Formats: sequence, structure tokens, C-alpha cells
Amino acid sequence: MKDALTIALPKGRVLRAVAPLLVKAGADASILLADDRTLVRESPGASLRFLLLKPDDVPTYVEYGAADLGVCGRDVLLERASDVYQPLDLGVGKCRMVVAGVAGTPSPIGVPRVATKYPRIAAEHFAHRGVQADVIHVQGSVELAPLTGLADLIVDLVETGATLTQNGLVELEEIARVSSVLIANRAAYKLRHDRVRGLVDLLRTAVVTKTAAAR
Ligand code: PRP
Repeated sequence: MKDALTIALPKGRVLRAVAPLLVKAGADASILLADDRTLVRESPGASLRFLLLKPDDVPTYVEYGAADLGVCGRDVLLERASDVYQPLDLGVGKCRMVVAGVAGTPSPIGVPRVATKYPRIAAEHFAHRGVQADVIHVQGSVELAPLTGLADLIVDLVETGATLTQNGLVELEEIARVSSVLIANRAAYKLRHDRVRGLVDLLRTAVVTKTAAAR
């Protein structure tokens, strides 16, 4: 369809969690969850087109208008400081951004070294508390940093807490609650208002129904 709404989605577990909500809002499940390598998913005559992306790239596609809407973790939005609307919390992908360190270790003396995939969030958190910190950017397996002497502390996401526990780390402080949110391009939100609002309303109903059923 010529004027299909384009929605940027993160590949992987968030896609699987969000797919049932999109299906309730009118998306074709077989297109969304097809086990193939196509990056643009669209059925003939459909009113929705999906782009499958690395999670970190979703806000970029939405901010620059390559997608009208997107699904994105609050962690990514906070780190990127993206200029997008956030019309709806989807209530999936729930976790927390925390500071953690080695269990039973006293606070580091002097300027702590903090390893993280989220250098902006970490720097802002420590600056806000008036604590000077040396933030070290790593790409993953962040829990390894305090075990090897790379850093004193980490700033990372915690979902079940298993990764912290299994690596002898403890949570010291919560920075933010995180979940997946629907984001919208600012121009699309105004110029395609009826289409965008229609989908936001359908998704809101799907989220409310899912939440009620889980009680
Ligand atoms: C994330 C996060 C933690 C872990 C938390 O890592 O960075 O390491 O999940 O989950 P838990 O509290 O349920 O154990 P991810 O699986 O994305 O891999 P990564 O370490 O390569 O970033």
C-alpha cells in the first residue's frame, strides 16, 4: 500500500514480545515473525510496513523520518537523547538500569572507574550525584569489568539479577526503570496524525487488555 505506516522494530526478543501487541493492532503475525533474512516486512495491500533493525538503530530511523514509528527501550532513548515523541509505554521488556559492584568490597577510594554500554547515562548519573567518575565504554559482558580490574563499578541493565549473582556482583543503586516504548517521528505525528493516532490507540487497547489478562 502506497501510504503504509513504516514501523522500525528491534530484531530479537523484544520483537517476539511486541509481536502479539502488533497483531492485535492489525499486523500479520506470519510477516512479522517470518524466520528469514528480509529486513523490510510488508504484505501486499497491508497498511503497515516493518523494518527490522539492531535495537540501537531504531531511534535513528524514527528521528530522521525513515520510519514513522518505532519500538525502542527507554535505555536506548536515554543514552541517545533522541528527539522523538514517546506516545505509549508498551509494558514489555521490563528491566532496571543499576550501578553494581563486587559483593563485599568497600567503596573505591578516589575516582571510581565505571564500565558500561551506556556512557552518557553513567556520566550523567554520577555528575548528578556530584561524584567524579571515569566512565569506560564497553560493548557487552559488562559484568566482567570489575572481576578483572578494568573497573570498580558497572552501570548496566538488570532483569532477573542472575548475571549479577552468578558473577559475584551486587546491585548498589537503581538509576532508572526501563521498558519498551512506542516512539514516533515528530513530523509524522503531526502530518499523518490520524493514521498514527489510530495505530497508537489500537496498541494502547492491546496493552491494556494484556495487562488486565495478566492480573
Ligand atoms: C543484558 C545486560 C545484563 C543481563 C541482565 O545483557 O547487559 O548483562 O542482560 O539480565 P539478567 O539480570 O536477567 O541476568 P545481554 O544479554 O543483552 O548481553 P551482553 O552482556 O552481551 O550485553
